[in-house]
Amino acid sequence: MYLTREQEKMLNGEYGWATAKAIELIIRVGEALGADRLIQVKHAHVSGVSYSNIGKYGLEFIVDFYKRGGRARVYTTINPGCIDYSGFSTIIDNKYMSEQKVIDDALIGMGFKPVFTCIPYYYRPPVQGEHLAWGESSAVIYANSIYGALTNREGGPIALAASITGYTYNAGLHLLENRVGRIIVKLDPVVKNTPMGAIGLFIGDVVKKTPVLHGLENIDFSELKILLASMAASGSHALAIIPGITPENTYRVEVEEELTIEKQDLEKYMGESLDLKHKSTSSVLGYLGCPHLHPLELLQIVELIRKYGRVRRGSLLLTLPPEYLDKYSFLINELRARGVDIAAGTCPVVSVFNKKKYDYVLTNSGKAAFYLRRIHGLKTIITSLREVIRYICGY
Ligand code: F3S
Repeated sequence: MYLTREQEKMLNGEYGWATAKAIELIIRVGEALGADRLIQVKHAHVSGVSYSNIGKYGLEFIVDFYKRGGRARVYTTINPGCIDYSGFSTIIDNKYMSEQKVIDDALIGMGFKPVFTCIPYYYRPPVQGEHLAWGESSAVIYANSIYGALTNREGGPIALAASITGYTYNAGLHLLENRVGRIIVKLDPVVKNTPMGAIGLFIGDVVKKTPVLHGLENIDFSELKILLASMAASGSHALAIIPGITPENTYRVEVEEELTIEKQDLEKYMGESLDLKHKSTSSVLGYLGCPHLHPLELLQIVELIRKYGRVRRGSLLLTLPPEYLDKYSFLINELRARGVDIAAGTCPVVSVFNKKKYDYVLTNSGKAAFYLRRIHGLKTIITSLREVIRYICGY
């Protein structure tokens, strides 16, 4: 692989141990993927930071980089950890408070922005054509497909290494030749009333090459966020081409196949039946905010809760970036007064919570449903955001 003089100096340890290790890691992965050189990144987003997921060894990896001089050379944001930073939630258990604090202190010490969210594009929307090194599959697919930015689906260590060096390897989705839509996926008009979370899980599971999605005209950004995150959860997708939305000149299309999604394809991805009438209502957890809520979604939820009154069945959990606690305190206070549980900077997938309390999770997120089933063994039902609120408010 070609290295500049600066990159050689990094590798030789002239910028310290952490930089040398970081660039070595990137070079190794790059060589395995056939990269010819390294490229500068504008923004790194570091995932894999929740103690409840990475445990003791992950903690030591991060702290080691910090103690041995690792510092951000580019703008870097941090994914959610396992702590509710608001202290409001009665659902999320802050069991690993002290361990997570050690991780957070090391990340902040390295100069990373403590946003603790999976929607880094809310803080710094990427620019078309710029190179990123992002972890967090839902953010990666959003950056590539909606903004036309260029990022692979990185693991936490590579995103951290890219932050410390300012570089990543020139391969995968950084190259136009790999951003090729090959399977046209059409949504049958009847399917459009099906929750996007279920459609996303189906596409992720069934479509194995980059899809070109037709039939998504007039879809709102919130639904798009849910669709893409769900695809990236059940599949390895990092890019979906949506004509009219994905910026031109950031992809090519070479059609090999066409697929039309029909109603019956989606049944198994919806989860349990929505008919919860005969089930114990106290054991239902409504969950919204995977990926974390955007302010517009928060506003939409507030309006719906006002319309339906308050939480009357089970619990309703919302997860969002910690920044909203001050910025939108008036909305959050109102939601809490109406019985809504708020957790900031985390989510039930990357944290600890009392899952025994719940038989069912009712959510609009295919990603949340996918992981809550797999990791926590919970039964899940995917429906629309409006239906989650209606049910939980007793309608
Ligand atoms: Fe974010 Fe947790 Fe979902 S990190 S994308 S809310 S699984």
